[in-house]
Amino acid sequence: MPSEFRINHEQLNPDPKGPVGAVPDDGRRLLTLIVDAVEYPNAQGVAAAVGRLISSGELAEGQRLPTVRAIARELAVSPTTISDAWQILGRGRAIDTRGRQGTFVGNHEGVRRRQRFWQIYPSELDTGLDLSEGVPDPELLPSLGPILAGFSDQPFTSSYLDDPVLPPLRELLQGRWPFPAEAMTVVNGALDALDRICATSLRVGDRVVVEDPGFPPLFDLLEAHGIEPVGVRMDAEGIRPDDLERAVERRVQAVFLQPRSHNPTGVDMSSRRRDELASILAGTGILVVEDDHSGDLSIGEPISLGEPLADTTVRIQSFSKSHGPDLRLAAVGGARQPIAELVTRRRLGSSWTSRLLQQLLLEMLRDEAVAAGVTRAGETYRQRRRLVTEVLDEHGIRYTGSTGLNLWVEVDDERSALVSLAAQGIGVAPGSPFQLTRSDTTTRPHIRVTTGVLTQNHREIAAHLVRAARPLPTRTAV
Ligand SMILES: Cc1ncc(COP(=O)(O)O)c(C=O)c1O
Repeated sequence: MPSEFRINHEQLNPDPKGPVGAVPDDGRRLLTLIVDAVEYPNAQGVAAAVGRLISSGELAEGQRLPTVRAIARELAVSPTTISDAWQILGRGRAIDTRGRQGTFVGNHEGVRRRQRFWQIYPSELDTGLDLSEGVPDPELLPSLGPILAGFSDQPFTSSYLDDPVLPPLRELLQGRWPFPAEAMTVVNGALDALDRICATSLRVGDRVVVEDPGFPPLFDLLEAHGIEPVGVRMDAEGIRPDDLERAVERRVQAVFLQPRSHNPTGVDMSSRRRDELASILAGTGILVVEDDHSGDLSIGEPISLGEPLADTTVRIQSFSKSHGPDLRLAAVGGARQPIAELVTRRRLGSSWTSRLLQQLLLEMLRDEAVAAGVTRAGETYRQRRRLVTEVLDEHGIRYTGSTGLNLWVEVDDERSALVSLAAQGIGVAPGSPFQLTRSDTTTRPHIRVTTGVLTQNHREIAAHLVRAARPLPTRTAV
């Protein structure tokens, strides 16, 4: 930055008791510390200065920062400049804004613990049977050996300038996409796709619709990007149209949804609901991002808002749960512009997903035995779920989950359900990290149970779930 834009500290606030005279002593000290550190009085400059003070330890973890207004006055800039600086620092987790309480220097470990994602897994509870993870059973994933064996003498592309997607893979994906995809690319899993879409199609301060309950890492991701989630409730057919209508009135830029095997509720969107949602979104230009995270494992049809809204829909299909999480592969297909922006931005970084892995996926998708194995796996997950739900039904326990790897079970009290199951050596995920609106009185406590990895003793485990769900004496004896 040219030096004439550098701040001249002597000219600022000649009267220390002036407009900020009411700042208490420690506040005054911090204010001086911050103001003196600022070289360039714009949002980036203020963020950089405060970032440096945090790194050097001069601003300590948990310390409360002076108000936006006080710093703005002292630096003779608009409060928006300081708010923008706080947003930049907040995105980097350097500070933590707590509404009326103020803004505090962040605590990295604390942030890690506060992230919803880290609240899902039992840590202090010593579990023998972990049903918390929402992951596929490794035994039901296709075996890579036979596919890899055919690889040895195949030539692989190695140029940085090659097409980021193997052309035959693109062709195959386009042929099986639920709607005509104007563009198609391959990235490192569905979460990578969500992250890249947030970075390239959305801006800090944008509002987006998310399902409530929804996927905790998406909530964390939006927070990290400075994007505000607007929760819409779910019913047995997908997100509720009345809630979506209200959200659209709040000027949202995008709608994120899982069209099938919804995590955590295990709901598939119906075609009727797709049409209702499409009629609300038609003509608004709102970007629809579909996360088909279970992909080929799902039993339901690949219903998509891309059918009626091809110009504004991007669908992500992950191959993690169907073909293996460690492949880290997902296809992103649909509307041209958001995908072009993602691909262009990615050229500044990794540019493409290993074509070796893409070739592996291509071979797997061409292989009939692999496809049959994936269908069988989907059926096995369904059977395992059913063996548990039979018992829940016998005892009137409320749950949803007709597809996917999980059951979303209503409980009287989340904490006591977790403890009761942990006492039996069973770990499940607490429902609250999935619930965006935890204070809403209509949000009943839940737990998420990954029945997909339950290979034996289904009735016995289900009986523990019944006891955990209804610890009160009113339940039927199990
Ligand atoms: C809704 C949802 N989206 C995305 C993912 C992550 O997918 P990937 O492994 O492809 O990043 C998951 C994994 O559980 C998920 O449940």
